[in-house]
Amino acid sequence: MTLAQQKTADSGNDILHARDTVLKLLDGRKPSVAVILGSGLGGLGDKVEDAVSLPYAEIPGFPVPTVAGHAGALIAGKLGGTDVVMLKGRKHFYETNDPQPLINMIRTLKLAGIEKLFLSNAAGSLRPQIGVSQLMLITDHINYLGLNPLTGPNDDTFGPRFFSMTDAWDPALRATIKDVATENKITLHEGVYMAFRGPSFETPAEIRMAQTLGADAVGMSSVPECLIARHCGMLVAGVSCITNMGAGLSDEHLSHDHTMEMAAKGAANFETLVTAALGRL
Ligand code: HPA
Repeated sequence: MTLAQQKTADSGNDILHARDTVLKLLDGRKPSVAVILGSGLGGLGDKVEDAVSLPYAEIPGFPVPTVAGHAGALIAGKLGGTDVVMLKGRKHFYETNDPQPLINMIRTLKLAGIEKLFLSNAAGSLRPQIGVSQLMLITDHINYLGLNPLTGPNDDTFGPRFFSMTDAWDPALRATIKDVATENKITLHEGVYMAFRGPSFETPAEIRMAQTLGADAVGMSSVPECLIARHCGMLVAGVSCITNMGAGLSDEHLSHDHTMEMAAKGAANFETLVTAALGRL
């Protein structure tokens, strides 16, 4: 067996063990939606009722995050009366360059019965009308990571080698989330999310490029999650919490602390939106 084949076999075993670990934690509950909580948005995990949880370190193959504000835990319970799984914290590509733990995590959810994935992230705005601490519903994305997590041998048991990314950010889920925002008087912009690899923030020239290419917000996550989830047939929705204007578009100094502080400001609307939307997705 080659090293690559060994790695695939090991991760296959990990995924089955991880599925069993998650099913044991769920103990008969049958959530169909999972929410991945982005930077500074993890507080929603603490609002889950009748919660049971496991640190990622106890789920085989799961990514153990290294960044402050990304504590890794899977939480299951009810939010707004609906069964849900919350993933608090995730690994970014800039931490390891290895997409396998993220693949393991999302495929484990799929095997545990999750059909819809609600992604969230902190992002920089490229449009003056999309302000700091406001929310943007992701309508589409540009993968500028320089990498697709699905390169390498395809696991046909999860999905086909080639698959469509048209309507990857599901139109029906988006329509529901928009309705919920309107009903709750939450300003919800819509736009294209462009993923940069990080860990540096962009240069002002890169931000101008992103604007020219048609992006409305930039960040360092969610695109790999969307690709992996669409490959295995999950429906995907996502919301960016705007923590800053893109580099060069304002005088603010970009830092991780600033991101966390501004995400906290947008978190209340984010929490209301997700809580109200869950039962209707
Ligand atoms: N760029 C990339 N990632 C981010 C930003 C940004 O401006 N803000 C929050 N995450």
